[in-house]
Amino acid sequence: EREQPLRGKRCLITAGPTHESIDPVRFIGNHSTGKMGMALAQDLANRGATVTLIMGPSAVQNQHELIRRIDVVSAQEMYDAVHMYVSSQDYAIFSAAVADYKPVNTANQKIKKQSDTLTIELVKNPDILASVGALKERPFLVGFALETENELEFAFAKAKKKNTDLLILNSMRDEGAGFGTDTNKITIIDKSGNAEAFPVKSKQMVAKDIIDEIIKRTS
Ligand code: PMT
Repeated sequence: EREQPLRGKRCLITAGPTHESIDPVRFIGNHSTGKMGMALAQDLANRGATVTLIMGPSAVQNQHELIRRIDVVSAQEMYDAVHMYVSSQDYAIFSAAVADYKPVNTANQKIKKQSDTLTIELVKNPDILASVGALKERPFLVGFALETENELEFAFAKAKKKNTDLLILNSMRDEGAGFGTDTNKITIIDKSGNAEAFPVKSKQMVAKDIIDEIIKRTS
């Protein structure tokens, strides 16, 4: 490629959903496709960065040789993979939609249909982003927030709690934003509480805006 301003830089990305097994045939999941995360990985790789992409179950194809892709299934596996690679990274961008809870027990056999109601007890998963935010030495840290109401308020609270350098807010209330679509609409929130809103763009262009912002703040 023409310009490679990120040659020699390393970036860790999480993307896609996680699947939390209920039994051998069922899981708790969400609608993330991994498109946003792959767009970020590709833009970084195009600019010369070495990218480690920790990807939940996703049909999205890897399109760049500088992307090392590590496929995981559950939040715990994603957590373990992130902590295996995080220490050597310059940037980390967490775009995965991680399940906040998982079943306390995963049944060994398919659960049979019996009574009219079925209760599955859940337990909290580790918060991967917060765990990296709490590290003494850590990469420049970018989190996402997907909200459905009180967007700015909830996003500011997440940025603080998880100690992100930048938080990328997207809202399910905005047309063309969030899961599955080829577009997104974001607001970038920094540590001092400044919020910059962007119009709807392709996920490729959104990725470019995010990475431009990271470069601006780290160089
Ligand atoms: O994959 P696509 O179909 O392209 O959709 C893109 C997207 C909508 C998934 C993406 O743009 C997005 O918003 N990702 C974050 C989704 C989310 O689950 O947000 P959250 O507000 O629940 O989580 C906040 C942050 O904490 C995120 O950076 C998340 O990765 C992280 N997190 C959350 C829970 C957890 N246990 N560990 C985490 O690391």
